[in-house]
Amino acid sequence: MKISKRAQNITPSATMRISALAKEMNRRGERVISLSMGEPDFPTPENIKNAAAEAIKNNKTKYTVNSGIPELREAVAAKFKNDNALDYSSDEIIVSNGAKHSLYNALLSIIDEGDEVLIPAPYWVSYPHMVNLAQGKPVIIDSREENGFKISAEDLESKITDRTAAIIFCNPSNPTGAAYSKSEIERLTEIFIEKNIIVIADEIYEKLVFNGFEFISVASLNEKIKSQTIVVNGVSKAYSMTGWRIGYAAGPKEVISAMGRIQSHSTSNASSISQYAALEALRGPQNEVENMRAEFEKRRDYFQKEINGVEGINCNLPQGAFYLFPNVSSYFSEEIKGSTEFAAYLLEKGKVATVPGAAFGMEGFVRLSYAASMEELEEAAKRIKSALADLRKS
Ligand SMILES: Cc1ncc(COP(=O)(O)O)c(C=O)c1O
Repeated sequence: MKISKRAQNITPSATMRISALAKEMNRRGERVISLSMGEPDFPTPENIKNAAAEAIKNNKTKYTVNSGIPELREAVAAKFKNDNALDYSSDEIIVSNGAKHSLYNALLSIIDEGDEVLIPAPYWVSYPHMVNLAQGKPVIIDSREENGFKISAEDLESKITDRTAAIIFCNPSNPTGAAYSKSEIERLTEIFIEKNIIVIADEIYEKLVFNGFEFISVASLNEKIKSQTIVVNGVSKAYSMTGWRIGYAAGPKEVISAMGRIQSHSTSNASSISQYAALEALRGPQNEVENMRAEFEKRRDYFQKEINGVEGINCNLPQGAFYLFPNVSSYFSEEIKGSTEFAAYLLEKGKVATVPGAAFGMEGFVRLSYAASMEELEEAAKRIKSALADLRKS
């Protein structure tokens, strides 16, 4: 069958490909430790699962309003008010099938053919593909390890042209865990305003920050930047609800309405049952969120120290999310030409699945997710050390 050029240009997600390979090796009995997936390893909290069961019992199993049940949009508005000091009305909020869906709807709503969309690298693997699908042009802004993988005002300015329409600003970042301070965001915001750049703020890792880091939503700085920002967030990471597929976006009425029109003709509402579960997530007790966050912080502290202690590896201490992004380039050689070969070697020899930095637009690094139990992390650290010691000898 004929396959469209659009589809041909989309490569499968590297993270999903590696996870599938790791699962296949496990099936063959090879006992791979997977540090490749981007999801919390905790079960969804009981109160949330119970709310979903109640929704089914009470026949909340039909189409809902396209943009999400009013109670959930009100709960999202309350979340923005309480957590971010942001005022949105219900018609400035849309609930979608995951944050990914909100991001895609946002791009489809604001990008015309040839519009340039800035993407700081390393970036989440889906961004450039989404921009291409929206017929925009991804323009990558490289960050540097010594700057904690955060872009500076100068980095940003150097990539702005008269076709620049938007930026996808992921904070805290997947894959590096970098989180921007208030003053860093303020400096970038001055430029966003001056150059009239729409900000798509991906804040899905907002709740996962460490050492008392104060998360600031870019839209909350002032009314002007709020008027040109679409904030995307969701319940996937904070409440360990990746499979429920609930994300949301907030922004000016006209863009939320455009996103609603696109959603209404493509997917319609997000799952009714999941919406009731998300309502409980946002309105119910929040102690599980803090428990998971604290556990991630403990694992980060342990694992970063272990990985940074491996000869030839430099690993920054990230302030958010649940990933390490170590520099492994000192291991590159004739055989291990780059991060892809390095990750393949770790999988084959160490039986540890990681994701090469190349997949995130940055060579020389790999992403290690520490959304795994302490026992798995301890074993993974042992295996990585041993596999790399062998590599040094060879
Ligand atoms: C940066 C970032 N944004 C968005 C998403 C997607 O979230 P959801 O599962 O709610 O679609 C992910 C998931 O990995 C992510 O890492």
